[in-house]
Amino acid sequence: MSSTVIFQIQSFLILALIYLGVYHRKNRALHVKIMSSAIIWDLLLILQIEFTRSAILKASKVMTNPMLLKIHLFFSIGSVVLYVLMVLTGRKILAGEKGVQKKHKTLGWTTLVFRTMTVITSFWAAWPQATA
Ligand code: HEM
Repeated sequence: MSSTVIFQIQSFLILALIYLGVYHRKNRALHVKIMSSAIIWDLLLILQIEFTRSAILKASKVMTNPMLLKIHLFFSIGSVVLYVLMVLTGRKILAGEKGVQKKHKTLGWTTLVFRTMTVITSFWAAWPQATA
């Protein structure tokens, strides 16, 4: 099995974990556990990709359409930025701060869209021949 396939399977499992965490959004303890695990796993996945093949550099070489890579990077970098905001707002809710819940909710659904788009667009970056 190629490293690309292993990365994509992990990426899909992380997304499934995030959907499970959103499903359990009313169960605080479980929600926090699932989301924290998913975020840590996702960061570890980025490190794996970076250390095995220096993803961004290689992808920009093999991509037939650099626009597709840019769209993929927009969603994947956006997801990581959103993770930071999710942890910050989530911790504030846990600390009992008022008025953050709405922000966490809006950002949460945005994160879900961004992370889903990351998986969809990763097929462009990983399998450039399919777009040719
Ligand atoms: C990808 C990451 C995450 C997503 C997509 C996400 C999404 C959501 C959503 C949609 C809700 C429901 C809001 C509502 O209906 O009012 C929620 C609630 C909540 N989230 Fe997250 N979340 C994420 C990460 C986190 C993290 C890392 C923490 C803690 C550090 C956290 C703590 C909470 C808490 C405390 C609630 C309130 C639960 C309740 O209603 O009692 N979330 N989250």
